[in-house]
Amino acid sequence: MCGIVGYIGSREKKNIILEGLKELEYRGYDSAGLAVLKDKEIDFFKAVGKLENLANKCEAFSSEGFGFAIGHTRWATHGKPTEINAHPHLGEYSCVIHNGIIENYKEIKEKLEKEGISFLSQTDTEVIVQLFEYYAKDMDAFDAFKKLVSELKGAFATLLISKKEPTKVFFAKNAAPLIIGKNADETFFASADAALIGKVNDVIYLEDVSYGYASKNELLIYENDILRANTFVKLPSDKAYAQKDGFRFFMEKEIYEQSNVLSEVLMGRIEGEEIIFDELKNENLKDVEELSICACGTSYHAALSSSYLFNRLSKVKTSVEIASEFRYKDGIVKENSLFVVISQSGETADTLEALKIAKQKGAKTVAICNVDNSSIVRLADYSILTRAGIEKGVASTKAFATQILTLWMLAIFIAQKKGFDMNKELKALRHIPKVALVTQKLHDKIHRLSKRYLDGHGFFFIGRDVFYPLALEGALKLKELSYLHAEGYPAGEMKHGPIALADSKLYTIALMPELCLYDKTKSNVEELIARDSTVLCISPNEFELSDDFIKTNKQEHFMCEFFEMMIIVQLLAMEISIRLGNDVDMPRNLAKSVTVE
Ligand code: G6P
Repeated sequence: MCGIVGYIGSREKKNIILEGLKELEYRGYDSAGLAVLKDKEIDFFKAVGKLENLANKCEAFSSEGFGFAIGHTRWATHGKPTEINAHPHLGEYSCVIHNGIIENYKEIKEKLEKEGISFLSQTDTEVIVQLFEYYAKDMDAFDAFKKLVSELKGAFATLLISKKEPTKVFFAKNAAPLIIGKNADETFFASADAALIGKVNDVIYLEDVSYGYASKNELLIYENDILRANTFVKLPSDKAYAQKDGFRFFMEKEIYEQSNVLSEVLMGRIEGEEIIFDELKNENLKDVEELSICACGTSYHAALSSSYLFNRLSKVKTSVEIASEFRYKDGIVKENSLFVVISQSGETADTLEALKIAKQKGAKTVAICNVDNSSIVRLADYSILTRAGIEKGVASTKAFATQILTLWMLAIFIAQKKGFDMNKELKALRHIPKVALVTQKLHDKIHRLSKRYLDGHGFFFIGRDVFYPLALEGALKLKELSYLHAEGYPAGEMKHGPIALADSKLYTIALMPELCLYDKTKSNVEELIARDSTVLCISPNEFELSDDFIKTNKQEHFMCEFFEMMIIVQLLAMEISIRLGNDVDMPRNLAKSVTVE
């Protein structure tokens, strides 16, 4: 996700900001920018692409002597990765950087536009600086900042500088990280530890609903509108560890991050009781008669999962194909059908080619993708971004989670346009970030259990309905990370062949949700148990015949069970692979993005 740095002090500010941003590169970005406030003047620079481009742009600029600086790397979610959309965003005499999503930016923008204020960018962030200057006309700068912050809804970590108050940096934080570090003469800001290591030893991790300002000699932090004491804690010193937010692997960090990124998927896309996708412009898709979905790898499993939802909720006939198969099939793309491609990277060669073919055949195309401006996004008629942020682990986790949620929302969106009541779905959707929280108790349990699954002659992950593609995904995760043989299978299909393999060294991981064909799946599992298979059941319902059991929570919707089980299969694959001594983040023979056929 985006990165933030800030600095108050006398060193060459441009260099401090560029160095800080460099340390945040691992978070992924597609544009960058910085601004320096010194002697009541603001200089700013922005560039699309790598930090080198930004460094080149400000090569001739120097800013020694006491002053203030802010810098930002942006991962596009609202608006394309262009220079105009890059941070800092500018008003007439102030500028701002921001991480997160301002959920109510449209309302604020409309309000300000009615007052004659015009906006330059397509971002949600610009409302912060415009609203600040709107209030600062009639009041003190800090009061204006406080007032604007109280109006923001959503997630934000933000730094603002202004010529109106050229001795301060204003900051605010809610549901996105912001850290302040201090030396005797300097103050640093950053969105992650990595940018501060080596610069300061002591930091304050701001709590949610915080705001305040820092100047040469002051640091005032308000928490829930009450001035708090500046109690510093020690900053960790290991950068690699800091980049992983203290987790052992990027994959582990990404599994734990899922609850947050799922909140981001929802942000600004539920208005009242309705799903809205700005990305679809005015396309309401209600006349779509058929859906074809194409993808590879994990994205293919997201596609397959969503087909159940498009059938069930949107009442649209949906076919799913592996992109490399679709390419040479001379597939039929019908009029009034919608062709959807799903890709984390937006660069997968097979998926891109499938998209080209569908376009040539005249289909209307939608990309579900995590990377704006990627080849797939540029080519598709419409693109919906999945907002997972950069995914470093080669084995996809949070990208999958965000794809599923986005596709489920798309299914609801189409259903609503057709007039179906989707209130039950919306209630469940809102609950998903909570469901996706990883508890220490669950992780410990999976860690303990994993020692029993390090050998054997194979794994079957089984499930029915939407839990069948989840079984495929669980098996893929295990294969990718542990190099053990694993298959995903529809539970009801085991009796048509694979059951011949059943013995005590065949490990079955059974997904047994309560709210989706529980009894049917249970019978299938009993058939395997009768043949002496070793079975790990994952279910909210106790199952005394299983060898191992992971109890999930009672949920009100089967998709909540889906997300809970998704986390379990991800953690299981990771823990088995750690025990086997494999490289979790970079499994052998695999690449994160496959741009060849
Ligand atoms: C590679 C990766 C997988 C990924 C697949 C599709 O095989 O190793 O993790 O699922 O490509 O990638 P995409 O970026 O199109 O989702």
